[in-house]
Amino acid sequence: MAGAAQHAHWSSRWAFIMAAVGSAVGLGNIWKFPYEAGEGGGGAFVLVYLLFVFFIGTPMLVAELSLGRRGQLSPIGSMKKIAQDEKKSHWWSLIGWSGVVGAFIVISFYSVVGGWTLAYMVKAAMGAFSGIDAAVAQSTFVGYISDPVMTLVSHFAFMAITIFIVAKGVQGGLEKAVTVLMPALFVILIILVIYSGFTGDFAKAVDFLFNPDFDKLLFKPNTAEAIAAGAPATHFSLDTVLQALGQSFFSLSLALGSIMTYGSYLTKDVKIGRSALTIAGADSAVALMAGLAIFPIVFAYGLDVAGGGGLVFMSLPIAFGQMPFGIVFGTLFFGLLAVAAITSSISLLEPPVSYVEEKTGWDRRKVAITMGLAAGLLGILSAYSQGDNLLSDIKFKMLGLELDIMGVKDFLTNNIMMPLGGMFTALFVGWFVTRKNMMDELALSDKTFRIWYFLVRFVSPTAIGIIFGKIIYDNFIA
Ligand code: PHE
Repeated sequence: MAGAAQHAHWSSRWAFIMAAVGSAVGLGNIWKFPYEAGEGGGGAFVLVYLLFVFFIGTPMLVAELSLGRRGQLSPIGSMKKIAQDEKKSHWWSLIGWSGVVGAFIVISFYSVVGGWTLAYMVKAAMGAFSGIDAAVAQSTFVGYISDPVMTLVSHFAFMAITIFIVAKGVQGGLEKAVTVLMPALFVILIILVIYSGFTGDFAKAVDFLFNPDFDKLLFKPNTAEAIAAGAPATHFSLDTVLQALGQSFFSLSLALGSIMTYGSYLTKDVKIGRSALTIAGADSAVALMAGLAIFPIVFAYGLDVAGGGGLVFMSLPIAFGQMPFGIVFGTLFFGLLAVAAITSSISLLEPPVSYVEEKTGWDRRKVAITMGLAAGLLGILSAYSQGDNLLSDIKFKMLGLELDIMGVKDFLTNNIMMPLGGMFTALFVGWFVTRKNMMDELALSDKTFRIWYFLVRFVSPTAIGIIFGKIIYDNFIA
């Protein structure tokens, strides 16, 4: 296979951790997590999400990193090679395929939202938020996402930056950028949490995020017609639990080949178990801090917690418009959010690029540009599906939801491909790879290995299976 011989590696353990944290921490934490927690009813969603992160996601990080390191190829190549070594069916390479295709779909809309952050950085710098109230914040956002020119420009600007860095290869720009910028994002988030704490409705935010109300998570309202026909007001549903599961995978960059690809750049001396805990810890901390920065403002200004994908963009600008040095903080915040998004989007473009590079032997630059542009074109559909933009009238009905084009891509990847990909990965490492090979690759202590093995063999597949089973039953059988 072309490219395998000169396959790149991280320059140090620290560089790898920063790149993996860079991949994990992104729009998923600061844009997606708060609005999903808001739509999912708050505390119970957050609690279930954290359980998924530590009991399913973290063991899966370990699994994917080790598969990548063992395979030393793209996710598809690695899965094929390991299945072959283990004398198992070549069909296991479908896990790699689903990751690579999934990553391609996700980056096509991730880049759209990445573009929003770039545009908001510019708006903040120009003082567009000074003195705005909730209504203006809302109309500014809707006006922007409905603008066919601005959204296109920002989407392609974001994609161009991603392509540029991926084209340069692993050690080039990526490592250097993440080691400085990720810590900076952390600091500014802390400042925002403190500011929101003093000026917003902090108590209500804490109550909302940490006081679990399981009824909100597990029971969905019935339709007016159903109630008129004698049904109770609500019914039991695991839809939001599935959403939390998908979000935990999304946030940890799992099941899209990204972590597996980063694992393939690992050298044998890195301790995978400890790295996985660091990545999951940093990722959860950022998500919770984002929630604590955003919800005090959401409550203080009476914004809709279930307002969807515009939540960050409609809440924080109000704060920036009022705080001292708001222009500086606003610009920094959206700038660093853009950086966090870029260090994630790089890892989304990486799996398709590493596969095509491996397959064709083309030079990396050419592959990065081709794949990035193709994803960019697909992304136009997502960009134009928002607000009142050109394609916003196109809606799809899926499992009782009405989704726009971006919503469909998100649903397919977040709620179907990622949980299923994760389940099959767990089954593969837990039941099909020889135990001894797994032990050698991971080099964990005996006790830790046993805990990990139990989680991937039994806990992950059962939990994901139950959630899926229930949803399939509700929608197709009952
Ligand atoms: N984890 C990234 C985020 O939270 C998104 C991502 C998903 C990146 C999957 C790579 C793979 O923003």
